[in-house]
This record gives sequence, C-alpha cells and structure tokens, in this order.
Amino acid sequence: MTDSLGVADANPLRQSLPRTRVPEPCAVVLFGVTGDLTHRKLVPALYHLALGGNLPSECAIVGFARRDWTDEQLRSELEKSLSKGAGPDFAEAWPEFANRIAFVSGTFDDPAGYARLKERLDQLDATYGTRGNRLYYLAVSPEYFSTIIDHLGKAGLVYPSQQDSPWSRVVIEKPFGHDLASARALNRDISQVLDESQVYRIDHYLGKETVQNILALRFGNAIFEPIWNRRHVASVQITVAEELGMAGGRGGYYDTSGALRDMVQNHLMQLLCLVAMEPPVDLSADAVRNERVKVLDALPKWTAEDVDKYVVRGQYTAGSIQGKDVPGYLEEKGVKPDSRTETYVALRVTLDNWRWAGVPFYLRTAKRLPKRASEIAIQFRQPPTQMFEVEADEADGANLLILRIQPNEGASLAFQAKVPGSRRRLQEVRMDFRYGTAFATPPPEAYERLLLDVMLGDPTLYTRTDAVESAWRFCTTILDAWNREGAPPPVPYPAGTWGPDSAEKLVEGDGVTWRRV
Ligand code: BG6
Repeated sequence: MTDSLGVADANPLRQSLPRTRVPEPCAVVLFGVTGDLTHRKLVPALYHLALGGNLPSECAIVGFARRDWTDEQLRSELEKSLSKGAGPDFAEAWPEFANRIAFVSGTFDDPAGYARLKERLDQLDATYGTRGNRLYYLAVSPEYFSTIIDHLGKAGLVYPSQQDSPWSRVVIEKPFGHDLASARALNRDISQVLDESQVYRIDHYLGKETVQNILALRFGNAIFEPIWNRRHVASVQITVAEELGMAGGRGGYYDTSGALRDMVQNHLMQLLCLVAMEPPVDLSADAVRNERVKVLDALPKWTAEDVDKYVVRGQYTAGSIQGKDVPGYLEEKGVKPDSRTETYVALRVTLDNWRWAGVPFYLRTAKRLPKRASEIAIQFRQPPTQMFEVEADEADGANLLILRIQPNEGASLAFQAKVPGSRRRLQEVRMDFRYGTAFATPPPEAYERLLLDVMLGDPTLYTRTDAVESAWRFCTTILDAWNREGAPPPVPYPAGTWGPDSAEKLVEGDGVTWRRV
C-alpha cells in the first residue's frame, strides 16, 4: 500500500508522526513563503506529514509573496532547503510533493494580489479537489497580521464562522502583540473578520512531545497528582537555556523584543501552565485551555518595586562558549550600541491559588548560556526529620523530579538510596526515562503536530485570546517597571556563564540555588 505521495507506508523515515486521522482535503496558504520559518520549519513539517501519510492526497500548498516568481521557481527554492536534511527517499518523494506547490505573487496590502489568490485557490479546488477548505499561515512580520486578515475578509477568502464546511482557519505566528494594549488591539482587529474558533495562535513549545508529556505524566498516572501541591512541593524551576546568540541576522528583531517578550510571555508561561494547572475534565480544547488560563490569572499583580525584587534581567557581554570566543550582545549585528534589551530573564513568582500559594516558581531563560537545555525541575520537600547520614550538599539533589524538554528528552526521578555497607549513609540515585530508548524514535517536530491539528480543527495546543492577554498583563507590568525613569539597567554576564550573580541572590533567600542543567 502506498500513501498520497506514492511512498510505501513502512517508511524508514520515522521521525514523522505516526499515522492518525487524515485531515480533509485543503489548501495551505503560506504568507511569508520566502522567509526563514517557511524554509526551516513549515515546509519540512508539511513534507514529513505527507511522507508519513498524514496529509490528504487532495492537498495543495500555495506560497504568497511579493516576488515575481512562478510555481517552478518556488518549488526549486523549497527543494534546495528541503533536500539538505532529507532522508534517502527524497528523490523519489519530492516530485509528487512539488507538484502540489503553487505560487501567487502579491503584496500584503494590495487587493489585486488577494483577487489572484482567490482565483488560484478556486482553480486548485477544481484540479486538486481541495474542496474550498483553506488554512492560511501568517509566517510574516507582526505588523502585517491585521492587514492580511482584513484583506482575507474583504476578498471573501474566509468564510462565516458558523460554517463547518468548507472551513477557513488562520494560523498566527508570534509575537502576538508587544504588550497588553497591542495584543488587545490585535485581538480586536482579528475579531472584526474571524471568530475565535477560526484563529490558531501558535506557540511551538506546545507542539513539543515532551511538553505534551507533562499532562500525560501528571494525569495519566495516579502517583504524582496527590503530591503535586504546596504541601509536598518545595519549589519548581523552569529553565529554557540557549547557547545561541543572534544567529541568522536576528539581532534587529531581537533588539526590539528581548527575552521577556521572545520567550517568557509565551513559551515559559505555557510550561508554567502545564505544570501548575488543575486536571481538566477531559482533553477537549476548551477544558484544557480553561485550566491553562486559570494559572495565568493566578499570577501576582506586581508593583514596580516587586519587579525590582523578583525579576533579574541581564545582557551578555563577550565571552567563550565551548572554547569558542563569541561577541557581546552590543557588538551583534542589528543591535543598537546602547541597547538595554535583556538577553537573560530570571524571575521568582508565586501563584495566588489554593494548590500553589507560597510555592516559589523560578523561571529562567537566556541566550548565550553554556549550553542548550530546557527542563522543569520539581523539588519535593525533604523528610521532616533525617535519621540517616546525608551530606548537607547532597540533600537537595534528591526528592526531585526533572522533566527534560530538550535535549536528552525524558524524565528523571532523583531520590535517596542507602550506600551499601554498615553505615546508614544515603546517596542520591536516579530513575531515568529517555524517549530515545523507550520509544526507539526521537520525538517528532513540533510544527508537524501543530499543522496537523489545525487541519483537523483541533485548537487544544493553540493559545486562546484570554490566555494571550493574561500572559501579557503579567509581562507588561514587568516591561513598564523596566521602562520607568531610574529603573536599573540589565546586569551584564559573560557569554558562556550561567547568568548574572544577582540571579543567585533572587533564590538564595529560599535556600535554593539555580540548577546547572
Ligand atoms: C523562538 C524564539 O520562539 O524559540 C527564539 O523566538 C528561540 O529566540 C526559539 O531561539 C527556541 O525554540 P526551540 O524550539 O529551539 O527551543
């Protein structure tokens, strides 16, 4: 048996998702088709979905951009980037995939381009049987989100929301606003044209297998939930560490964003939600999203002084990572020489709810740390009395559950065990679960899962308006405090170190140190 691409089912390239429900026929329109995200993530994800038999055979991919390209030119550009990391089947699978790719030239603010797009989509419905279903992916700079959605509406390219079939859905990449006011304004613009059920705000962290596994671990087992609360948990550390600096010419974008907007408002907040949320009634989109937003609503309402006390921002200076010298942030291309943009954020936050009141959650993310590693560490309380011999510096390593988001995806439970011999001495040992060995396959790419979900009409792993606004409410308080007259500037830290010393001070009052992940 072969799939839509004529590729045998037993495909050796098993990084794709296992074959599940195949979506209805549809056209996927990529705004920003010439951009980096399309080449690095979106088209490879669509290709792997097709290869794994997860795309309907009646599926067209339409690129929309300003250039005066033909279908053939877009195909050859995409072939160049896809072929780099492709498996041995590429030569066989590509022609069939390429055949589905079309290009429409237009600028985002020109109605004529949308008229051409409509005409082309109608043709594709006739030739490829895409049945009028439309997925629009806005992989563009955020200033175009409202314009594109407005034009889609005016050109009749989106359908009334009540209509189930054919359907039209719009995926919006981050950043979704740059503060609470702009996020609200964007939500207002979108709601003029689309119903919430048609809007898919993507946060690729939610598509990571290891992130989804947080729910599986918590609610698919009965052993964790009874101790997942303030009585038994001493603290939680969430780290998203990156080795990268401003690679790929990102300095210009990043300098207007910074770590808080780029990572905390979205990815770290989502991790916090999944760790701290209450059990949903079921796994339906509304049930899960309702519980996620309640966590964000329980974040404290800080004053500017609270921000100074509980948040540390840093900026990397020149240093060395794994033996290689790297420039400081202010020397990076596209960065203003006097920039105060933060490349490091650490914060200590508590949640005002019954489950978590008083438990510190430490969140930390940065560029140019010694290595790339993301994890969530749940530190359970120590025994109330200690009858064994435990070295003081060893006590904290145990009673600890570590969820490794990436790399070395998996989880470890660290606990104390008796060292063999006549003494009553304890030593920390670990039980370890690794995706690679347990499932004999690396986790699939987040974008594959997320694209498939939009086609299936499942918004569970997407962010709803209320969650976006709630996360921005919290982050905007921090931004306002940083931007006020006399606010302390970011603290320098050398690239290749674990961040500024002041971050240690943030946690030492709780008798805690940051983990060297
Ligand atoms: C993106 C940020 O959303 O996430 C980047 O804009 C960051 O700055 C990236 O590098 C990290 O994603 P991942 O999947 O590599 O952890």
